[in-house]
Amino acid sequence: MNWLRVLASAVLSLSAIGAQNVTGRWTGSYSTADNGLEIVVALNQAADGGITGYVISPRSTDTIISGHAEVSKLAFEAERAGRGGAVQKVTYSATIEGGKMMLTLPPPDFGGGRGRGPAGAPGAGPGGPGGGRGGQPQVVELARVSTTVPAPLPPRPAPVSLPMPATPVKYNGMAKTPPMGWNSWNKFHNQVSDKMVREMADAIVKSGMRDAGYIYVNIDDTWESLARDAAGNITTNNKFPDMKALADYVHSKGLKLGIYSSPGPRTCAGYLGSYQHEEQDAKTFAAWGIDYLKYDWCSASQVYDNTQATMAAAYAKMGDALLRSGRTIVYSLCQYGNLDVGEWGEKAGGNLWRTTGDISDRWQSMENIGFKLQPGREKYAGPGHWNDPDMLEIGNGGMTDTEYETHMSLWCLLAAPLLAGNDIREMKPSIAAILMNKEAIAVDQDKLGKQGVRVAQDGSVEVWSKPLADGGHAVGLFNRGDATAQVTAKWSDIGLKGSKQVRDLWKHQDLGKAADQYTAEVPSHGVVMIKIK
Ligand code: GLA
Repeated sequence: MNWLRVLASAVLSLSAIGAQNVTGRWTGSYSTADNGLEIVVALNQAADGGITGYVISPRSTDTIISGHAEVSKLAFEAERAGRGGAVQKVTYSATIEGGKMMLTLPPPDFGGGRGRGPAGAPGAGPGGPGGGRGGQPQVVELARVSTTVPAPLPPRPAPVSLPMPATPVKYNGMAKTPPMGWNSWNKFHNQVSDKMVREMADAIVKSGMRDAGYIYVNIDDTWESLARDAAGNITTNNKFPDMKALADYVHSKGLKLGIYSSPGPRTCAGYLGSYQHEEQDAKTFAAWGIDYLKYDWCSASQVYDNTQATMAAAYAKMGDALLRSGRTIVYSLCQYGNLDVGEWGEKAGGNLWRTTGDISDRWQSMENIGFKLQPGREKYAGPGHWNDPDMLEIGNGGMTDTEYETHMSLWCLLAAPLLAGNDIREMKPSIAAILMNKEAIAVDQDKLGKQGVRVAQDGSVEVWSKPLADGGHAVGLFNRGDATAQVTAKWSDIGLKGSKQVRDLWKHQDLGKAADQYTAEVPSHGVVMIKIK
């Protein structure tokens, strides 16, 4: 009877494979915050059910590295270009029902280790087709358009090399103190729109943020359309009907408008970048009335050779283009602090450059970026050119107010750009008080432009100091530990002697004179920030 069982199972598996062989091309469309996008799934199924092929959407090309089909189900893992030049693995699954494929897209990747989008966020996440509303995976119905084995993807062209720029890009005269403003990314990701930017500009004025110094209203990724116009101009998607009109509105409020692009062909969220259109895009931005450009490496890692010379040259190319654009535009480099950016960021025309990967709204992320990854970079900062430890998360809900005070104090001591990343339209008074602490802001905006440094550390408590233009010092007494601790700032650690006037920059109180040192009780994850003179 054995031969019968073998024959029966062979017939069964043959018919199973035959019934659901998925080889061919499947297409469908999925919705995003700004558009409906076509997706193409090209599959080749082997006799044992193994799957190879790729998935192409306007936002990404994913190469399948492993996969398997069984009866009416398939699942595969694919690789795509991720943030910061990394290779990202994504997983798709699908069922076949009545000749249609119901494809579950990988969840959106908004970076920063969050793994979540803003609540209710429809559509694609950065880096390709993504999950749907409220973090639920998005399922797309695909129709089969062919059953032939798909042609392989064309090989990637050889990486482009550029020589280190022979002459530095001329200084644009901007950012004499670290830029201050608001940016859409941390809170809103792909939800940013014309309407939101207008509302945010209104709120920045009404809340007092503008008068506290927050001037730049910066649109991050996802404003761009899918394709350039016939003349090669970059255009907006339907969330931004008229960028010039938006700039006029923002300017009428006494604010400035910032925008975002990439030296690569695609941004990190898979939208159009400025590759091979640098000059043209700089002119477009100037014509719209843009005052600030964040230029994010992203897919540039797919076309360039990723050496320091090439990266510096790619940034210098846009730096020069901005200078020739007819408008003075603050230039923000975003390449995650790689390849010793401090050594060449200013020469590429940068007014600021990111020093790390993306921040997220968690103590560990802020602590790692602020305390661990900044020391040593202070020599690169000064008027016109700043280290950027990434935008603020203050008010986004993932940290306590105590932790947000630490975030604000540390960024001010670091002379970091202060780009609020919260919803200013519904800012709680405690958050407003942190973001608009004028005495902390004065430390950040001090004309001397020195980046503060850690002067003492004992376990989880540490003291940071920033020299100020009036001869005083701003000093942060930080407690990174889990319990309240005494923290002492010794004048000798700061290079000072004798009795000093002490002022508490959070309590806004003069504390009188202190000889040789100052000790404070600091809550877990908290700070006491003083000025001594
Ligand atoms: C990168 C940047 C972020 C943000 C996103 C947008 O991850 O580091 O700050 O601009 O891209 O896609």
